[in-house]
Amino acid sequence: MILITTAGKVGSETAWLLAKREVSVRVLVRDPEKATALAQAGVEVAEGDLEVPATIEEAMQGVSAVVLVSPGVEPAQEINVVDAAARAGVGHVVKLTSKASPDSQIARQRWHAQIERGLAASGLPHTLLRSNAYMQNTLMLAPSIARTGGFASSIGAGRVGMVDSRDVADTAAAIAADPAGHAGKTYWLSGPELVTYADVATALSRLLGRTVTFRPQSREEDEAAMVRAGLPQPVAAMNALALSLFAEGEAEWLSRDVPNLLGRPARSYERFATDHVAAFS
Ligand SMILES: NC(=O)c1ccc[n+]([C@@H]2O[C@H](COP(=O)([O-])OP(=O)(O)OC[C@H]3O[C@@H](n4cnc5c(N)ncnc54)[C@H](OP(=O)(O)O)[C@@H]3O)[C@@H](O)[C@H]2O)c1
Repeated sequence: MILITTAGKVGSETAWLLAKREVSVRVLVRDPEKATALAQAGVEVAEGDLEVPATIEEAMQGVSAVVLVSPGVEPAQEINVVDAAARAGVGHVVKLTSKASPDSQIARQRWHAQIERGLAASGLPHTLLRSNAYMQNTLMLAPSIARTGGFASSIGAGRVGMVDSRDVADTAAAIAADPAGHAGKTYWLSGPELVTYADVATALSRLLGRTVTFRPQSREEDEAAMVRAGLPQPVAAMNALALSLFAEGEAEWLSRDVPNLLGRPARSYERFATDHVAAFS
């Protein structure tokens, strides 16, 4: 049995891919109603909360591998999972992370680094998946495109090796289902090319058949816009800081780990946008 700790973008796609391969898979979710489609696809749904260690302990019963993915807002949540996995003698953990480092300016990167240290200290065999920014982040631009015909960001001309989160899930599923040879490895997951927000505007203009414009804006304007869109202020500040660092080249990296691991090319931004055109329309 493989346990996936949350059922967001990566967790639900990983669960769905494993169920399709007839691998036993369980997701831990706060609200089972949101996981009805996964349950219908054969995924076992365990009601729980990463804030409540007893529910993690229960979901860990009979588990051979864990896909450790969460919003990463509170290191204690994932460390609770690592502790429960170590007590249960789980064989392998696949940790979803990013370009984490203890001295990153971005709090989320420091928290991931803290969780990675906990995982290393646990002695559990594990694999780190360091993803570049998800293409799915650009879905958050859709309301602005609908309202104003364009979008604004402090990312400037920053080039990003964006990865489709479906490829991240495909990689996590492949390793969790067959971890042999992956213990102690770190893989860097990116798409096939560096993408700017001007490229995003060009791709969406072509697909939507009308001009979509990209307007650079300051980090402060980004933060204010995210707060207006409903993000808590500290999260908005962290995300705006990340975008302004992307403008300076923080995410300007590519890797061939996705094609090497999956034996097929990573999805391009064009592919992603085509598959999600309805959401941008
Ligand atoms: N976005 C990026 O560009 C990017 C790039 C690299 C790495 N990452 C990493 O990817 C991770 C996020 O993955 P994702 O995008 O797949 O997540 P996501 O789509 O944001 O989904 C997060 C899920 O976690 C669930 N959740 C939240 N708190 C929970 C709790 N206390 N107990 C159980 N479930 C809980 C949420 O469920 P509810 O419906 O109950 O709220 C939601 O389904 C983060 O660690 C992030 O650092 C992201």
